[in-house]
Amino acid sequence: MENELSVSLSATNIKEAIDSAWGKQCTVHAPGTVANLVCGFDILGLALNDPSDIMTIKLIDKPEVIIHNIDEFNLPTDPKKNVAGVPLLDMIERLDNQAGFEIRIEKKIKPGSGLGSSAASAAGGVVAANHLLGNLFSRNDLVQMAMLGERLASGVKHADNIAPCIMGGVTLIRSILPLDIISIPSPPLYVTIVHPQIEVRTEDARQILRKQILLKDAIKQWGNIAGLVAGLMKGDYELISRSLEDVLIEPVRSILIPAFAEVKYRCIEAGAMGGGISGSGPSIFMLSRDETTAYKVEDAMKKVYADTNISFYTYVTTVNTSGVKFV
Ligand code: HSE
Repeated sequence: MENELSVSLSATNIKEAIDSAWGKQCTVHAPGTVANLVCGFDILGLALNDPSDIMTIKLIDKPEVIIHNIDEFNLPTDPKKNVAGVPLLDMIERLDNQAGFEIRIEKKIKPGSGLGSSAASAAGGVVAANHLLGNLFSRNDLVQMAMLGERLASGVKHADNIAPCIMGGVTLIRSILPLDIISIPSPPLYVTIVHPQIEVRTEDARQILRKQILLKDAIKQWGNIAGLVAGLMKGDYELISRSLEDVLIEPVRSILIPAFAEVKYRCIEAGAMGGGISGSGPSIFMLSRDETTAYKVEDAMKKVYADTNISFYTYVTTVNTSGVKFV
């Protein structure tokens, strides 16, 4: 247990929460997310209506996590090696080891896609468990626990997938220590995604980044971040479009993604406001103001990848404004 809870729990609180959870189960849809939103490396993200994982959890009387994977991805069932398992083990410690969890995970978000697959598992598990426990933990506590899953996946704690997955919409992570998360209102946005079927490990995509940057580049980047947040809040599509520029991360990471420059060029030609690498890639996302444009952008993506020997999936979706949903 690494972080203090926002509220300290008494033995009575814990016992009451566990007693009320016996015999119940909870199923959630945990959405995919687009982190970074081009210029906001590690601090901006949005939740998607498609794809999302399905997770069902129930309480067990031993302080352990039992994982059943209902998909073809062969992810570890050892909870210490599983991104949903580690946050739940942390929650069990916070419950004074008075109970454990059995969880079924049906992943629809492919691991290593750049669409927040690990965050969906980590966040979906703790949100579902907390629901069973009558919301014993605060939202920030859940983010803290879920970030342990992100650290297992990428070596570093970051909340730019976790926060939008839990809260929905567009989120700004002003700080993770202490945690300071702000929901950013946005105008309607259509999100078109192409997921080339290659895997980019977040850990690798972080290791290749420069550790130092030039002040002139930093100035450009924070101008874009501020412009993007202002554009979203004002519903100013032109400002959003101008601000979707990344001078720090994209020039380095885009070399890992085949046809990246061509996809971007063709999508903007098809009417997209802009876009870039989704999280650490390899998925590429584009934002459009309307559905017709979003489908034209999808066509542009398909044409580019059809000329490569790489298979791919595409999605046309919208911003999920509610985050993890109970079903
Ligand atoms: N902000 C993180 C990164 C997201 O770009 O490495 C990874 O999903």
